[in-house]
Amino acid sequence: MAEAVKKMEQQALHTWRDDFPALKQEVHGRPVAYLDTAASALKPQFVIDTMARVMETYYANIHRGLYSFSQQSTAAFEDVRNKVAGFINAPSAQEIVFTRNTTEAVNLVAQSWAAKYLQAGDEIILSGLEHHANIVPWHMLAEKIGVTIKVIPVQDDGSLDIEAFERMLTIDTKMVSLVHTSNSIGVVNNIKKIIQIAKDFYPETKVMVDGSQAVVHGSVDVQDLGCDFFAFTGHKIYGPSGVGVLWGKCDVLESMDPYQGGGDMIETVDFHHVTYKAPPARFEAGTPAIVEVIGMGAAIDYITSIGMDVIASYEKQMFTYAQDKIATIDGLTFYGTTADKIGILSFTAEWGHPSDIGMILDQCGVAVRTGHHCCQPLMRRFGIDATVRASLGMYTNETDIDALVAGLDKARSMLA
Ligand code: ALA
Repeated sequence: MAEAVKKMEQQALHTWRDDFPALKQEVHGRPVAYLDTAASALKPQFVIDTMARVMETYYANIHRGLYSFSQQSTAAFEDVRNKVAGFINAPSAQEIVFTRNTTEAVNLVAQSWAAKYLQAGDEIILSGLEHHANIVPWHMLAEKIGVTIKVIPVQDDGSLDIEAFERMLTIDTKMVSLVHTSNSIGVVNNIKKIIQIAKDFYPETKVMVDGSQAVVHGSVDVQDLGCDFFAFTGHKIYGPSGVGVLWGKCDVLESMDPYQGGGDMIETVDFHHVTYKAPPARFEAGTPAIVEVIGMGAAIDYITSIGMDVIASYEKQMFTYAQDKIATIDGLTFYGTTADKIGILSFTAEWGHPSDIGMILDQCGVAVRTGHHCCQPLMRRFGIDATVRASLGMYTNETDIDALVAGLDKARSMLA
């Protein structure tokens, strides 16, 4: 049975890897080994074709035209709200706000919810694993209104210190905003348990989850998680950049003021009096990323037609292969060594700086990210300034991993 499933997955892989035209290219005369999916995923032909078809056929502005093109565009755009709701099991499509990306979703919550309801002395809890997108908006808020930011410490294996978190909670904790899965070291937080702890302590505490990496490496159910806000971005789920999602509980979104003012988010406008539409329109001022939203819908169709669990299981298999292979390279230190991880190898080498290693890997056709991965506090926690990060996606195969390991061997012989 397990063999049959494995075979089915291998067949599916054969089909789905072929769906990504970028992988058919060579870089510096070598087949490209794209191992930077955590930064941005490559796009399947289905997404590319869907977006091109919109622009070649019925493209027009949405919500504004009585003519066919606009009606069709509006229907296709709004249909994505339903797809997104299904994708994360949101109770209603009206709780899905389209943003530019996760960053904008966090800024929206910081400005439209937190700036309205929090005051000096209130506390916001973040963690040492956070991407700058889930730090800077809160820091800006703290500078403006004087809220206190507390940080859950990261342990040596990259997991969060949950006991420290429990000690940190007070009646002043009004917001807990945490990453579900680390972009930098791949650790998957037990986010459901963390949310439960926060809500058990004080049910009114709002919890926001940065789900950018989580949604693409497994199934997410926001109702089961029990959070108030959940954000992710289109370009990491094999869709286009320029579009993201903020999901918020209906009553919470309804209690919030607009994030930006402009067209399509109002009911009536006069120079001295404006009334706003209900969510989600209230938070979507101006012409949105129409083609990109539809492209993100195509990406959701694409990955869900394969199955998030099938993708997760395949990636796990490939990650095990990668861990075994990379263990043959001497002098590497790995960050994020918990059992529950997505396919991210984040490491330093005693024989070379990450930037030098990254450039040598590029010459071998291997694309990795090097640097702080927008997580400077996390790098500081480990006493480093950068890592080499190889991140796997649904199209990663053994050949990509072999190219990485051969490239590292070469880098070591050049730099050691
Ligand atoms: N957040 C992206 C990364 O992890 C850009 O590389």
